Amino acid sequence: MPHAIEVPLSTVDKWQDIVNLLAEIMCVPSALIMRTKAPNIEVLVSSHSEGNPYEAAETAPLDTGLYCETVMETRQPLLVPDALADVDWNANPDIKLGMISYMGLPISWPDGEVFGTICVLDRKKNAYSNQFLRLLSMCRDILQADLNMLMALSGQLAESQARIRRLVDADIIGIFLWEVDTQVIVEANDAFLRIVGYDREDLRSRGMRWTAMTPPDWLEVDLRDRLPVLKRSGRLQPFEKEYFRKDGSRVPVMMGVARFEDGGKEGVAFVLDLTERKLAEADARESERRYRETQSALAHVNRVTTMGQLTASISHELKQPIGACAMNASAGLRWLAAQPPNLEEARLAFERINKDARQASDMMSHIRDLFKNAPLQKEGVQINEAIREVITLTRGEVVQHGVAVQMQLAEDLPPVKGDRVQLQQAMLNLIMNAVEAMSAVDDGPRELTIRTAADAGHAVMVTVRDSGPGVPPEHAVRLFEPFCTTKSSGMGMGLTICRSIIQAHGGTLELCENEARGAVFQFTVPTLDA
Ligand SMILES: Nc1ncnc2c1ncn2[C@@H]1O[C@H](COP(=O)(O)OP(=O)(O)OP(=O)(O)O)[C@@H](O)[C@H]1O
Ligand SMILES: [Mg+2]
Repeated sequence: MPHAIEVPLSTVDKWQDIVNLLAEIMCVPSALIMRTKAPNIEVLVSSHSEGNPYEAAETAPLDTGLYCETVMETRQPLLVPDALADVDWNANPDIKLGMISYMGLPISWPDGEVFGTICVLDRKKNAYSNQFLRLLSMCRDILQADLNMLMALSGQLAESQARIRRLVDADIIGIFLWEVDTQVIVEANDAFLRIVGYDREDLRSRGMRWTAMTPPDWLEVDLRDRLPVLKRSGRLQPFEKEYFRKDGSRVPVMMGVARFEDGGKEGVAFVLDLTERKLAEADARESERRYRETQSALAHVNRVTTMGQLTASISHELKQPIGACAMNASAGLRWLAAQPPNLEEARLAFERINKDARQASDMMSHIRDLFKNAPLQKEGVQINEAIREVITLTRGEVVQHGVAVQMQLAEDLPPVKGDRVQLQQAMLNLIMNAVEAMSAVDDGPRELTIRTAADAGHAVMVTVRDSGPGVPPEHAVRLFEPFCTTKSSGMGMGLTICRSIIQAHGGTLELCENEARGAVFQFTVPTLDA
């Protein structure tokens, strides 16, 4: 119904300018825009001009013989140059206000319904020239163009309101309407009432105010950050918050908010219950935590078993500095017992003891670290140093299997960000795999090459190359999966653990070459400053 559409204030302002100008140009006391509001007629806009007796918002009953009434009825222009001299007009109500001449045109909605009139009135006789009639008619066209646009807009508004209505009724997500001024929720669908545990009676009694239903920690952000944006732009990007349910418990929700129209008094909010999703997220976090715990327990077992494998050769390694200590101690004692005692030689012997003892004790503490099940610690690790320690621990094993180790460690590498023991465990697994692979074949030299290099993009790259038989192709794809092994005594966990360690450090581990000459494993670890 076009009759129901309100003319917005901004349009009324523009129309005011038009009638002011008309009155000025035509030198008349009144230029008006009238609107029909059966059974009355209303002065919608009245010119701000000297001696104008009409005021905006005044109404007069129809069926009283007003000039404008005739224009609306006949939908024709009307020109009355002198009402007093005109038998048809000498009794019309406008004469009481002193208006004895009139020129008016009908204004219509785009669908032909009458909106009202635009007219000028004068206290004296006035024949209004043809140019004035054209001017009035041009103004009328402007008003009708405005009405055209208003009707189109209201159609869109009605359409979007109908769409919202359908959504509200569908009950798929919670929806409520609220008064911007009072924050009272004036309408809500069942889905929303279910989410917050209220009922229709609460709604009817205006007992639901979204501000009161918002926990204080969320309300602060709503009032400080969101409301101003809503007032300014008419809408809010979806966001998460919580509401108090009627029983006082909290419910996490995702919200979308908009105002119906510019400066409108009501807002609409779409509410999605996130309880399930939050539970699922917590579940996922819990299972992720359990997974990490299992991984770390497994990694520990793997270290202990690998180290167990190495016990014989490690104790052999340890025997060397300890034996040297004993030998140097006897030598030192002999130098002291000599006549005269050779203090310089004795001092040198004790220095050697000192050095060997420190070497043995360093080795012991590295071994202890590897046996410990300490929580992951990320710090700056000098990768070359960590690798050298692992090489020392595996030297016995390597020598025993006739493997020659070549180290190509790049100098001046930046420290990587990581847990030293875990990175050493990864190295240990790769070296042990290489030694085991090479021991399985008899022909050809057994060479193990370990390289470190700075990698582009703030990482260090470590390469472990062997001259063994390579990975059987049918295994190459599953290599990093748990329990993939070709060894009778293998667990098949070594590479799985290596990869999870490297990935936890933000790096990658790949089998990058796999040929008859051997396998090449390569991993990267981000540097501390990455
Ligand atoms: N350097 C290598 N050369 C050839 N094959 C290799 C090499 N490294 C690993 N593989 C193959 O990959 C498989 C998986 O290695 P992974 O370290 O995961 O387990 P594993 O060594 O068999 O057992 P463990 O759990 O005791 O380490 C090995 O059984 C072997 O077949
Ligand atoms: Mg292994």
